[in-house]
Amino acid sequence: MAKIGLFYGSDTGCTEGVANTISELLGEENVDLFDVYDVDGSEFDGYQTLILGLSTWHDGQLQSAWDDFFNNFKEIDMSGKTVALFGLGDQYGYSTYFCDGVGIIGLVAEENGAKIIGKWSTEGYEHDESKAEVEPGTFMGLCIDEDNQDELTEERVQKWVEQIKSEGILG
Ligand SMILES: Cc1cc2nc3c(=O)[nH]c(=O)nc-3n(C[C@H](O)[C@H](O)[C@H](O)COP(=O)(O)O)c2cc1C
Repeated sequence: MAKIGLFYGSDTGCTEGVANTISELLGEENVDLFDVYDVDGSEFDGYQTLILGLSTWHDGQLQSAWDDFFNNFKEIDMSGKTVALFGLGDQYGYSTYFCDGVGIIGLVAEENGAKIIGKWSTEGYEHDESKAEVEPGTFMGLCIDEDNQDELTEERVQKWVEQIKSEGILG
C-alpha cells in the first residue's frame, strides 16, 4: 500500500503532538512524518496522499516553518493528490484568526489540483472568523484548540481519523 506523507510545522510542539497521534492512529507503518522545517518540496513528489498540519501565529500568520516554505509550497503540482488538513489555534485569544493557516494552505493545495478530504464541522467552536471556514459551518480540515479545549483533542482526533479513513486516506 502507498504511504501517506504527513507534513507538519509546530513552534511549541502542540501540532507535532497531534501529528504523532494521527500517525499512530493510522498505523505508523502507513505514514512518513516530515517536519516542514526540514523539507525543500521535492519530498511531496513521492506521495499521492498527504496530510498537512500547522498552527497559526501572530494574527493569522502561518507557523514559522510553513511561512518560510510557503513560496515553494505554492509551486507544488497537487493534481491527482488527495489532501487532508489539520490545524491548531486559539479560538478565544485569536477569535478572528482561528486556525487561519488551515484555510491558507488548503486553498493553495486545492487551487493546485488537490482533492480535499477531512472537512470538519464548526459545531462546538466559538470563533468569530476563520480563513479555515471555507463554507459557513465547515472548516477545511480538523481544527484543534489545545489552549482552551484540550479535553476535546483526543476525541476530535480519533473521530477525524475515522472520517479520513472512510474518505479513503488509506487507499
Ligand atoms: C503570540 C501568539 C500568536 C498566536 N496567534 C494565533 C492566531 O492568529 N490564530 C490562532 O488560531 N491561534 C493563534 N495562536 C495560538 C497557537 O496557534 C496555539 O497555541 C497552538 O497550539 C500552537 O501550536 P504549535 O506549538 O504547534 O505551534 C497564537 C499563539 C501565540 C502565543
